[in-house]
Amino acid sequence: MQKRKLGNSNLQVNPVGLGCMGFSHASGDPVDNKTAVKTLRQAYEMGYDFFDTAEAYTGLFPDGSISYNEELVGQALHNVRDKVVIATKMGVHHNDDLSLRLDSRPQTIRQSVESSLKRLETDYIDLYYQHRIDPNVEPETVAETMNQLMKEGKIRYWGISEATGDYLRRANAVCPVTAIENRYSMMARWHESIFPVCEELNIAYVAFSPMANGFLTGKYTPDTKFEGKQDYRAGMPQYTQEGYDKAKALLELLTGMAEEKQATMGQLSLAWMLCKKPYIVPIPGSRKPERLRENFEAGNIVLTQEEISMIDSRLETMRFEVFGGHSAK
Ligand SMILES: NC(=O)c1ccc[n+]([C@@H]2O[C@H](COP(=O)([O-])OP(=O)(O)OC[C@H]3O[C@@H](n4cnc5c(N)ncnc54)[C@H](OP(=O)(O)O)[C@@H]3O)[C@@H](O)[C@H]2O)c1
Repeated sequence: MQKRKLGNSNLQVNPVGLGCMGFSHASGDPVDNKTAVKTLRQAYEMGYDFFDTAEAYTGLFPDGSISYNEELVGQALHNVRDKVVIATKMGVHHNDDLSLRLDSRPQTIRQSVESSLKRLETDYIDLYYQHRIDPNVEPETVAETMNQLMKEGKIRYWGISEATGDYLRRANAVCPVTAIENRYSMMARWHESIFPVCEELNIAYVAFSPMANGFLTGKYTPDTKFEGKQDYRAGMPQYTQEGYDKAKALLELLTGMAEEKQATMGQLSLAWMLCKKPYIVPIPGSRKPERLRENFEAGNIVLTQEEISMIDSRLETMRFEVFGGHSAK
C-alpha cells in the first residue's frame, strides 16, 4: 500500500484514514470509553495512521455524562504520537437541538486549540481544520490565525472543511492550505468542481462520509432502524424507501463489480475515489474492528481508469437522495 502525501505538507499517510466521529457522535449512543480506546488502538495496529476527530464530536451517554472524541483519540495514541497524523477541527459547536453554531473568531480559535491539545494529550496538532466556514469571519482572518498557530508550533498544517473554491483561494493566499475535508462519495459528487483548485494549489482532498454514511456498504435495508436523536442516520434521505429506490441501480452496479473484484461493496466505493485521484484520502468511520480492517484494505484494490470512467458515466445517469443538502448528484 503506497502512502499518500497530503498536499504541500510532509505528512505521509496510508490511503485510507480513520474517521473517529462515530465513537462519540452521530452514530447513536457513544461507545464506552474503554472499548472505544481499545478499538482505536487496534485500528493503529492494523495500519491506520491518519485519525480524524473534532472538538465538536461529543455525545451523551445514557447517564448524562459526555463522550469527548478527542480524549479517546488522545488516550489511544499518545504513546505512538510520532507515528500517526492527527487531524482535528475547530469552529463548530452543537446547540441542544443539534443545529450548528459557527464561530471562527481568532479568540475562539485560540481557546479551541488549547482545549484540543489537552484532550488529545499532545503538544501539537498535525492538521487543524476550520470545521465550517463562518460567514462572519473573513478567510484571511482565519488563515492569519492559523499562520500564527503554526509559528507557535501548536499546529503543523491547516485545512478547511466544506470549503468552496473562492474561500479556499483567498485563505490559501494568506497561509497555504494543506487539505480540504469535504463530503464526497459516489452519491455525493457535487464538490468535484473543486478538484481543479486542489490540483492547481497542491491541496489534498480528504473525503468525509465516503460511503454515504455507510449506505454504500449495502449492509442496510429500508427496514434497518436507527434509534434515537443521537443517530443521525435516522433522518437521512438515503435511508428512506425512496432513497433506496433511487440508489437501486448503483447498489446493483456495486454488487456486480464487488463479485468480479472479490471485494466488498464498501471497499469498491472507496477504491473508486482512491484510484480516481492521487490526492484523495477517504476517512470512513467504523466502531467495529472487522469493518475497520475491511475498509483499510480498500487501499489495496486497483481499479483501472476505464473502470472508473465506466462507473462515472453510470453515475451521471443516476439521481440520489442523500444527506448533505444536495439531492441532484
Ligand atoms: N468534516 C465534516 O464536517 C465531517 C462530517 C461528517 C463526517 N466527518 C468525518 O468523516 C468520517 C466518516 O464519515 P461518516 O461516519 O459520516 O460516514 P461513512 O464513513 O460513509 O460511514 C460510516 C458508517 O458506516 C458504517 N460502516 C463503516 N464501515 C462499514 C462496513 N465495512 N460495513 C458496514 N457498515 C460500515 C458505520 O457503522 P459502524 O460504526 O457501526 O461500523 C458508520 O455508521 C467521520 O468519522 C468523521 O471523522 C467529517
